[in-house]
Amino acid sequence: MSDKTTEKKSEQGYGTTGHSWDGIEEWNNPLPRWWLWTFYATVIWGLIYTILYPAWPLIDRATPGLLGYNSRLEVQEQIEAFKRKNAALEEKLASIDLNEIRSDADLYNYAIRSGAAVFRTNCAQCHGSGGAGAKGYPNLLDDEWLWGGTIEEIAYTVHHGIRNEQSPDARWSEMPAFGRDEILDEEQIANVVHYVLKISGQNHDAAMAAGGEQVFLDNCTSCHGEDGKGDPSVGAPDLTNAIWLYGGDEATLTETVTNGRFGVMPAWHEEFRPAGGLTDSQVNAVAAYVHQLGGGQ
Ligand code: HEC
Ligand code: HEC
Repeated sequence: MSDKTTEKKSEQGYGTTGHSWDGIEEWNNPLPRWWLWTFYATVIWGLIYTILYPAWPLIDRATPGLLGYNSRLEVQEQIEAFKRKNAALEEKLASIDLNEIRSDADLYNYAIRSGAAVFRTNCAQCHGSGGAGAKGYPNLLDDEWLWGGTIEEIAYTVHHGIRNEQSPDARWSEMPAFGRDEILDEEQIANVVHYVLKISGQNHDAAMAAGGEQVFLDNCTSCHGEDGKGDPSVGAPDLTNAIWLYGGDEATLTETVTNGRFGVMPAWHEEFRPAGGLTDSQVNAVAAYVHQLGGGQ
């Protein structure tokens, strides 16, 4: 407690605040001038700012501010300006005969660049950011195509998708579940699996493969072809090379033949996908992009 008779004075001539904690007292010095003026200045600056710029949150927006500045509008304007600049290219890209696209260098470059952006946003989650695919999701970098690798065939695949309910014109076929539906017995399946191991150049049991050949001719050639090289009109893969969509080891082959496979890709064109679908020009752009990734035919 301060004592009236021995009242202390700070260097600046002010007394104490009268507070005392365990005998420790506090001078009642005023705030430094520079500090005080900076404080007032920031308060005034803050008030002016909230009047000029969007500031106070309301229920579904903020107070707009006298200047009417809006960063979202600014972005919107930049997007609009970008679109205006590319409108002519976009229009051309939407209607071009895709076989001709390479002869128009400007358009082709534009298509590859915007196609890469479309791919990153819509395709990478299944096909991988570089297009290398994963089990059940085909690699788009090689020249093995389930459904055909010309730029037009790729555009069709993207437009309508594969085995989906969205587009009535989706690419469609269905490999039977030979085991589950009891079309073949276990021995026939084991044999035909060894035949597939044989035609794909892997270790196999020669006797089983010999027995499997007839099973293959009777059950598989209608889609995979007499030589096992597949058929893009039904999306049936080539079984003679080392490229596998699901896997070429004995266990995976047995699983494939027993239960069949039914890879689904959604349709991407906006006519089947009202929210977030691709426009004609975007479908063409991403087809051109995928086509040049490495394996385009
Ligand atoms: C939800 C996963 C998914 C997404 C997203 C997806 N795909 Fe696919 N895609 C698949 C599957 C699964 C297949 C293989 C279907 C089959 O077994 O025939 C496929 C097949 C393809 C094929 C045919 C490959 C061939 O060998 O013929 C192309 C081309 C393709 N996709 C391109 C695209 C493009 C371009 C996009 C983006 C616009 C895209 N995909 C987005 C799942 C997807
Ligand atoms: C009706 C057509 C059809 C018939 C018949 C058919 N397949 Fe298929 N097969 C397909 C299709 C389509 C795929 C690709 C499925 C997918 O992508 O989801 C496929 C995929 C496969 C695969 C997977 C290849 C990989 O890359 O992983 C194997 C193995 C296979 N078939 C073997 C056979 C065998 C063996 C038979 C005969 C016992 C057979 N298929 C009969 C259409 C057929």
